[in-house]
Amino acid sequence: MNDVLGYQGKKVVITGCASGMGAAAAKLLCELGAEVHALDIGEVKAPVAQAIRTDMKDKASIDAAIAKLPSEIHALFNCAGVPHPPFPAVDVMLINFVGLRHLTEALLPRIADGGAIASIASTAGMAWKSNLERVRAFLALESFDAGKAWLESGAEMGADAYGFSKQCLIVYTMTKAGELAKRNVRINCIAPSPTATPFMDQLTKDFPREMIQPFCPSNGRFATPEEMGEPLVLLNSRLAGFVSGLNVPVDFGYCAEIAMGQRDNLMGIS
Ligand SMILES: NC(=O)c1ccc[n+]([C@@H]2O[C@H](COP(=O)([O-])OP(=O)(O)OC[C@H]3O[C@@H](n4cnc5c(N)ncnc54)[C@H](O)[C@@H]3O)[C@@H](O)[C@H]2O)c1
Repeated sequence: MNDVLGYQGKKVVITGCASGMGAAAAKLLCELGAEVHALDIGEVKAPVAQAIRTDMKDKASIDAAIAKLPSEIHALFNCAGVPHPPFPAVDVMLINFVGLRHLTEALLPRIADGGAIASIASTAGMAWKSNLERVRAFLALESFDAGKAWLESGAEMGADAYGFSKQCLIVYTMTKAGELAKRNVRINCIAPSPTATPFMDQLTKDFPREMIQPFCPSNGRFATPEEMGEPLVLLNSRLAGFVSGLNVPVDFGYCAEIAMGQRDNLMGIS
């Protein structure tokens, strides 16, 4: 069967595709014949239809990008994200979750019947159950400005800013699934284990590689950007047409080993 993934001629929007997992996903989407609209603060190298310089921590910048996007969209890929450190806590929350949600909510009415949303969370957000009350309190602040004001007040997150941003993303994804199912639109996220991208280069300036290694799967290595970008493309494809509301660990069994008590639960995953 040709076009088995169903992207031929489809309009897709992707953030964070200047490098890393998003770049791998954007390259594949272009190869699959999608019309790719890219939002990034950096330079996008994939042969996309449109690249819009966008700062995901700036509401006006996101709104300006939204104005340039097509009126009907088949799929949205939320890939932009930054580590903490070196990025300050408020910026991490704004880029990794508040801006992501602002963009997603604004584009929801444009997502076509049969369309889908896939975002990149992290194994660092997998302890969301133990912080659910706080996450829900934050999600209840529905607007970008309300979320930003809460963050700037220095309120307690119950986790480090990066972990909290990914907990919020996982709970948001699961919370939206039922509402979107009524419109035949799917929403999922992936939770990658450590991956060799510029994000990791930034993180390992503050945390040496030996500190990250215990969070790797038993195959002992960091994933490649393609090993994350490809499952993301699969999740938004027609081959995953009945899959929604999932946070999929893409970690070569790391979370499974924790669930089975076969290795230390360093992140308090429940
Ligand atoms: N690398 C890892 O080990 C790892 C593990 C789990 C989850 N993640 C998540 O994966 C996602 C992709 O990261 P990556 O590892 O490919 O890193 P990366 O640094 O290669 O990619 C991040 C992308 O986000 C863009 N970006 C950064 N700040 C932005 C802003 N303010 N506005 C718009 N775009 C911005 C960057 O230009 C880049 O294209 C992130 O959400 C990250 O949190 C990464």
